[in-house]
Amino acid sequence: MSNESLANLLKEERRFAPPAELAANANVTAAAYEQAKADRLGFWAAQARRLSWAKEPTETLDWSNPPFAKWFKDGELNVAYNCVDRHVEAGLGDRTAIHFEGEPGDSRTITYAELQREVSKAANALTELGVEKGDRVAIYMPMIPETVVAMLACARLGAPHSVVFGGFSADALATRIEDADARVVITSDGGYRRGKPSALKPAVDDAVARVDSVRHVLVVRRTGQDVAWTEGRDVWWHEVVDRQPETHEAQPMAAEHPLFILYTSGTTGKPKGILHTSGGYLTQVSYTHHAVFDLKPETDVFWCTADVGWVTGHSYIVYGPLSNGATQVLYEGTPDTPHQGRWWEVVQKYGVTIFYTAPTAIRACMKWGDDIPAKFDLSSLRLLGSVGEPINPEAWMWYRKHIGADKTPIVDTWWQTETGGIMISPLPGVTETKPGSAQVPLPGISATVVDDEANEVPDGGGGYLVLTEPWPSMLRTIWGDDQRYQDTYWSRFQDKYFAGDGAKKDDDGDIWLLGRVDDVMLVSGHNISTTEVESALVSHPKVAEAAVVGATDPQTTQAICAFVILRGGAEEVDGLVEELRSHVAKALGPIAKPKRILPVAELPKTRSGKIMRRLLRDVAENRQVGDVTTLADSTVMDLIQAKLPSAS
Ligand code: WT7
Repeated sequence: MSNESLANLLKEERRFAPPAELAANANVTAAAYEQAKADRLGFWAAQARRLSWAKEPTETLDWSNPPFAKWFKDGELNVAYNCVDRHVEAGLGDRTAIHFEGEPGDSRTITYAELQREVSKAANALTELGVEKGDRVAIYMPMIPETVVAMLACARLGAPHSVVFGGFSADALATRIEDADARVVITSDGGYRRGKPSALKPAVDDAVARVDSVRHVLVVRRTGQDVAWTEGRDVWWHEVVDRQPETHEAQPMAAEHPLFILYTSGTTGKPKGILHTSGGYLTQVSYTHHAVFDLKPETDVFWCTADVGWVTGHSYIVYGPLSNGATQVLYEGTPDTPHQGRWWEVVQKYGVTIFYTAPTAIRACMKWGDDIPAKFDLSSLRLLGSVGEPINPEAWMWYRKHIGADKTPIVDTWWQTETGGIMISPLPGVTETKPGSAQVPLPGISATVVDDEANEVPDGGGGYLVLTEPWPSMLRTIWGDDQRYQDTYWSRFQDKYFAGDGAKKDDDGDIWLLGRVDDVMLVSGHNISTTEVESALVSHPKVAEAAVVGATDPQTTQAICAFVILRGGAEEVDGLVEELRSHVAKALGPIAKPKRILPVAELPKTRSGKIMRRLLRDVAENRQVGDVTTLADSTVMDLIQAKLPSAS
């Protein structure tokens, strides 16, 4: 985001009070903030009671070994039972759980009773295929009901799923299957995308051929396209699932039993397998879905347009809405197939009341024109949500005006794969909203903005977003890499969770998110990614490795500062630094030319091999170097600092 738009953001003076009727009937009122403030753990213990526990927890949080949290650790529950069976047992079996809308126009309505039968059959089928509690199952699917059924069947068995977005390549799928050591892959022949069948099975065949762990591939027939078949390994969903008994006894799991792994790509290194567990995760996604979307399960029709391959789909298509007994829309395709009004046609068809999407989609709709949503009856909508990146105020205003009839509240929800559930958002019945700001931590959530030295910034100040207390749906670790979990999230600011986002507090203390800090530098109003500059440096024949940081600079906001390891034998001759600077300028443009380049012998790395940029930033900003205890070799920083006088 440019300086100019940042300044504009904070000048934003438009305010929108909650509609009186919504405020009067809101699920959550201002009192929740007070309750949570007075007794944060008591507040979460009360939210956990939204769920049905086979064994009620007596302990809320065990934080005796930070940053490894245990929430509700002596409690036991079954997540799938909470999302499906208990609603049927409460007499709500005939309620619609899912209105499925396929891209070609086929549709299916699935009640909670039907969902219970489908999930039970799928759980029985997975058991027949040898899946046991604790085994990992990869899911690589289009947006169809079987995907939700597959996830819930895994949850029912205590077999952590790893959903891989259907748009990812065979390569990405193979890496994720391998890292999670998945035993079974659930996929389909393909799905419908942009008006035609798009294959999935070939990528699975390719990926599975490269790994050893997969015993079975369970294939849903969606498009009917031809698929290659490996006898003995591949099985059709309709052949094994359809013939299973319609009942399955869900076993209780410990609250901390792993529920799923979801990989985030990040900018460097291999993808991180974010691990979420059962009781705390379900508590927070259930509570936030109830509070932020003000869901009235008897009358609302909820629609989250995300793909289930992302965390938004996990938390606000599968676990949040279903745990709350919601009726929701599941749409397979793209917003502009077969026409640019498709989403609004779906809203009209099902009478969607709560709609949750991403700024990028809103901007696309803006581009397509106001006349498109105007052709549809959107009067059922009463609440709109946004997630995924900062929403610029103009997109926010367009969303409210053209989708929300100039009256529905908008909740701008900040969270991450790692946080599991929504963390910062207005409450629709309480908060006076500001276009472009996620505003306030939810009740029970502690977030603030700190400067480089971890001091909380005053109102009006900017810095880094941190979470200052553990929360129920927090990631528990990075799958198989506790050290990387600590290094990535808990080492930049002592005892605080570093979210990796820049943020600013306005004069009211409301939070404005400004994008990722790690990978993006702000140089004279231009966003430049550290990885891009590193890649450009490494493309020079004399450079072996590079680490780039943005250092505060009075003229340009940040200045690009690069640390390079020269290739074996390369001499640090006069003019080399200049040569490298021009090389980057040629590759990326003059604006990306590093201000300083410092050849060094080593880069500071953690045991897991991650470059600790914060230490380099300390050097670049002429500060005393921070904590080096997590470095693989703590003498590296001394070597780097010894070189400093020659830095230009
Ligand atoms: C990153 C997390 C949360 C589900 C989707 C993305 C950015 C997310 C907002 C928002 C400003 C936002 C942040 C965050 N982000 N929501 N409302 N305002 N930025 O999950 O892929 O894990 O990405 O998305 O940069 O750190 P994710």
